[in-house]
Amino acid sequence: MTNATIPPEKGDYQVGREWREGAPFDWKDIHSNFTWHKTGKVNMAYECVDRHVAEGKGNKTALHYLSDEEENTYTYAELQREVNRWARVLQRHGVKKGDFVFVFLPKHPSCHIAMLAAIKLGAVVGPLFEAFMEEAVKDRINDCEGEYLITDHSFLDRVIREDIPSLKNIFVTDKQGGDYISITKEAEKENPELETVWVDLEDGLNIHYTSGSTGKPKGIIHAHRNMIQQYQTGRWVLDLHESDIYWCTAHPGWVTGTVYGVFAPLLNGVTTVIHGGRFSAEAWYGVLERAGVTVWYSAPTAFRMLKSQPERLHKDYDLSKLRHVLSVGEPLNPEVIHWAYETWSLRIHDTWWMTETGAQLVANLPTRTIKPGSMGRPIPGIKAAVLDDDGKELPSKKTGHLAIQASWPSMMKEVWKNPEKYQTYFPFGGDWYLAGDLAYMDEDGYIFFQGRSDDMINSSGERIGPFEIESKLMEHPAVKESGVIGKPDDVRGEIVKAYIVLNEGYERVEELAQEIRSFVKSGLAAHAAPREIAFIEELPKTQISGKVLRRELKKWESEGVL
Ligand code: WTA
Repeated sequence: MTNATIPPEKGDYQVGREWREGAPFDWKDIHSNFTWHKTGKVNMAYECVDRHVAEGKGNKTALHYLSDEEENTYTYAELQREVNRWARVLQRHGVKKGDFVFVFLPKHPSCHIAMLAAIKLGAVVGPLFEAFMEEAVKDRINDCEGEYLITDHSFLDRVIREDIPSLKNIFVTDKQGGDYISITKEAEKENPELETVWVDLEDGLNIHYTSGSTGKPKGIIHAHRNMIQQYQTGRWVLDLHESDIYWCTAHPGWVTGTVYGVFAPLLNGVTTVIHGGRFSAEAWYGVLERAGVTVWYSAPTAFRMLKSQPERLHKDYDLSKLRHVLSVGEPLNPEVIHWAYETWSLRIHDTWWMTETGAQLVANLPTRTIKPGSMGRPIPGIKAAVLDDDGKELPSKKTGHLAIQASWPSMMKEVWKNPEKYQTYFPFGGDWYLAGDLAYMDEDGYIFFQGRSDDMINSSGERIGPFEIESKLMEHPAVKESGVIGKPDDVRGEIVKAYIVLNEGYERVEELAQEIRSFVKSGLAAHAAPREIAFIEELPKTQISGKVLRRELKKWESEGVL
C-alpha cells in the first residue's frame, strides 16, 4: 500500500491555469505581479501590505489571531496603519536602512507588525525563535552587532543587555515600557501614514541564523528580490487564491515561519491565521475548525502526533473547509500520507527547501501525482540533479548529493561576514549548489530524500548543529568532552543524543544527566537539550586530528552498542 501513488484531485489550481507541465518558464514572467514592475520602487513590506490597500482591498482580513485567551483580526488597512505607526517609532529612535532589527516575540500579530515595520524602513529584520534562551539570543545579535531589538517584557530575562554591547535600543510591546521604549504606547500617538523607504531588489531583507555541522550558527542574509519566488511558490505550490484562509504553523524565528508565515501569504493577499501557543491535537484541530482554514502548511512531526491520537478525535472537528495541506522540514513518511488521505480525504503535499534557498525548490504541485516517500519534483524555474562525490550527474535511482543549479530569485545574498562559507555550498565550482542532503531521483524526476551528508540533526523539523550543543556541554563542570548525534525517533524524526565523558570525581547517575539536560535547556533552547545522555569512558576520534567521530557514534547507536 505504501507504494501506491495518489493522483491529483480535480480542482481549479493556480498553477494549472497559469503554467502547463513541460512548458517553458522564465522568472521574469512573475515580475509583472509587483508594483515595482511599473514604478521601479521596491520594498517587500509595500508589496505585502500597502499595495493591497492601494488596490482597494483594505477591508479584507489580513491577520486572524487565535489563542486560548485572545482572538482578534486586522484588515489590510488596519495592518498598514499599525505597521506605519510602529515604523515611525523605530525611525524616531534611529532605525534606518541597512540596520539590523531583531524581533523576539511569540506567535502573535505583533511579531508580523514588528517585522514589517522594520522592513518598511529598509532595515534587515532578524526574527528570533520564541524559545531561544539567553545564549542563543546573545550569540545571534552579537554576531552581526545588532543595534535594535523588539521584544516583550516576558522575554527580557533572556536578553542580558551587558552581554550584547551593540544594542542601542530595546523596544517592548507592553504598554508599560519601564526602562525600555514601549513601542505600542508610543505608536498610539503616531501618524498612521508613512513614506516607504525604497530599496533595491538586492538590498538586505532578513537574516536567519542556521546550524551547520561545524562552528556556531551562520547568519544567512536574504534580499528583497526573494519576493519573486515567494510570491510564485505561494501561488503555485500553496495554491493561494484570494479567498483562502491560510495557516502556517511555524514561528517566524524559523525560516518557514518568516517566508511562508509572513511574506508569501501577504504577497498573495490572503487571510493569514496566527495561533498563539504550543501544539496539542485539540487546539490545532480547533484552529482549523474555528478559523475555517482552507490551506494548511505544517510539518511531519505534527502530522505524526495527530496520527497517534485516538480515532474518535479526528471526527470531532469540522474540517470541511480544508482543501490543501502541505508539509516541510523533515522526511514525510508514506504511512502518514496514506493515513491523512484516509482520514481527511486530503493529500499531504511535501515540499523541500532550506534557510539558504529562501523559498521552496522541490515540491508536490497540486496538479501532480504524489509518490509517497518522494519530496516531489523541482518547481518551474528550478533544475535539480543528483551528483556523485566528484560532482558528476548520477543516473536515476542512484543516491548522491542533491544539487540545484544556481541561481534562483530567492537564493541567499550572503553568509554574514563569511564569504568562504558561502563558497562551501559550491564544492565543485560551477553553478551546482549543494544542499548537504543525500537523495536519489527516479526516472520521472521525483526526488527521494535519503539523509544528510553531514552531522546535522533534524528534530521535529528543527535544524540543529551538534557543535553548538557540544560547546554548551563543555561549559558544564562535569563534562570533559562530548559527541552529539541525532538518534532516529518515530515521532520527532530524530532526537538529540549526547555521549559524554565525565571529569574525574563525577558519578554516572541519572540526576547528573538530568542536570546536564536542564543546563543546555536553560542556556540554549529546549529543542537543543539532549533527550538521551550516555556516559562513556572514551569518545571515538580520528587518529590524525583527534576530531570526534560522530559517524562512529551513529554506528554504535544503530548497532545498539550502548
Ligand atoms: C531538511 C527548512 C526531508 C533537509 C525549510 C534540509 C527536509 C533541511 C525536507 C533544511 C523534506 C527540509 N524532506 N528533509 N521535505 N525539507 N528538509 O534550513 O535536510 O531549517 O537540508 O529549512 O531540512 O532545514 P532548514
